[in-house]
Amino acid sequence: MRVMYVASEATPFIKSGGLADVIGSLPKETAKKDVESIVVIPKYQDMKFVDQIEYVTNFDIYMGWRKRYCGIFKAEVDGVTFYFIDNEQYFGRPGLYGYDDDYERFAFFDFAVLELISHLNIKPDVLQLNDWQTAMIAMLYKERYCYYDYYQNIKLVFTIHNILYQGKADPHILEEFFALDSYLYYNGNCRNDGCLNMMKAAIFYSDVITTVSPTYAREILTDQYGEGLQSILEMRKHDLYGILNGVDYDVINPSKDQTIVKKYSPRSVKTGKLENKLALQRQVGLPEDSKVALIGIVTRLTEQKGLDLIINQFEAMCQRRVQIIILGSGDRMYEDALKGVAWEHKDKVSFQCKYDFVLSNRIYAGCDMFLMPSLFEPCGLSQMMSLKYGTIPIVRETGGLADSVQPYNEFEGTGTGFSFYNYNAHEMMDTIDYALHTFYDCPEAWDAMVQRAMAEKLDWDASAEQYIRLFASLL
Ligand code: GLC
Repeated sequence: MRVMYVASEATPFIKSGGLADVIGSLPKETAKKDVESIVVIPKYQDMKFVDQIEYVTNFDIYMGWRKRYCGIFKAEVDGVTFYFIDNEQYFGRPGLYGYDDDYERFAFFDFAVLELISHLNIKPDVLQLNDWQTAMIAMLYKERYCYYDYYQNIKLVFTIHNILYQGKADPHILEEFFALDSYLYYNGNCRNDGCLNMMKAAIFYSDVITTVSPTYAREILTDQYGEGLQSILEMRKHDLYGILNGVDYDVINPSKDQTIVKKYSPRSVKTGKLENKLALQRQVGLPEDSKVALIGIVTRLTEQKGLDLIINQFEAMCQRRVQIIILGSGDRMYEDALKGVAWEHKDKVSFQCKYDFVLSNRIYAGCDMFLMPSLFEPCGLSQMMSLKYGTIPIVRETGGLADSVQPYNEFEGTGTGFSFYNYNAHEMMDTIDYALHTFYDCPEAWDAMVQRAMAEKLDWDASAEQYIRLFASLL
């Protein structure tokens, strides 16, 4: 079986979010399991490891009247073949997204992926597409390419990583960039709410749709989480699957992490975490205190990540015996609010308004608890990282958070973290209080929970098996 994964980002080459981690690790895992695994992403200016990629060929792409140069580069990493789509005009600029011509850039990318298949003669059995940037490949394939002899019988899997970003565009671009008849807009195949909706098109045209956790797969069928696509998803619900993302324990592992002050395993977790904790407090300018409960938050500062709850209860949290470290940047509104409270509670709070890979690992290693009260969370990576680092997550029971963190049950001595259901600031605070009580008053129960958290197996092994079974079922 040959699977071609198509996405807008993939580690180790380029990353803006969790999508890159998935595309960096799932293909690697399926390759280990005898699936020929190919990844296609754009060749961005800011890409890393460019010295490892080599030029392959080039050809022209026709997007309606536009004729565009398309260069192909290639790299082999851990048994996976990566192809990079090159065009100076579209991708030779800083960053990944957020440009006015994003729809044109990714329309080009979508055509380039389909053209690449025949130019290099690498027809896949399954095309696995991710999020809106690649969604229109499904429509282009089913309305045009599948009728060419060479392209027949490719199965399409569309994976939703975040239903908030749908690729909502002016309908005229269907003809303008994709060279498809506007009839296909008016018949509703890709129309939602008066817009061309790329994600809707992919949900309509793909053979199956997946998302990144079982709970999120159920949630997006509801008005609360569906972001306007719940009815089209309802129509396709028998072809909708939730497969939990994994984490790559080759990389995310306190016994291998080169960036933390002291490596540790489950056996050495107590002393190991203590050393990391004191070093972390020193690094971020908090009083060194081995006994105080240290709470970490590492996140993009957006509504999705539950920042409204955090800011609402920040004063209350500061009244407890705690220290809090926040690492992340994002919306100005949240940055300003956090700067304010951090300034008022210098002895308890450290706000690092940036993205810093090394510091984030040190937070996972040095903190006692990790707070992640998301409004919605398709899967989430941070809670899985904190489990592996023995840092007890406090999460809202939504999406992948509900599927990866088992709530603590003090009577049965089970569970790996603390969780609450409603998006309610007081419920969050009560849950934090319960966690603090357990931490200070029941140290043995806490240590046992740390052991269970670290023993949790959330790597790609089982998830990749599920993907492979799904792919195979389509052939
Ligand atoms: C998106 C989601 C996140 C998920 C990631 C990878 O970034 O917001 O929850 O973990 O995609 O699937």
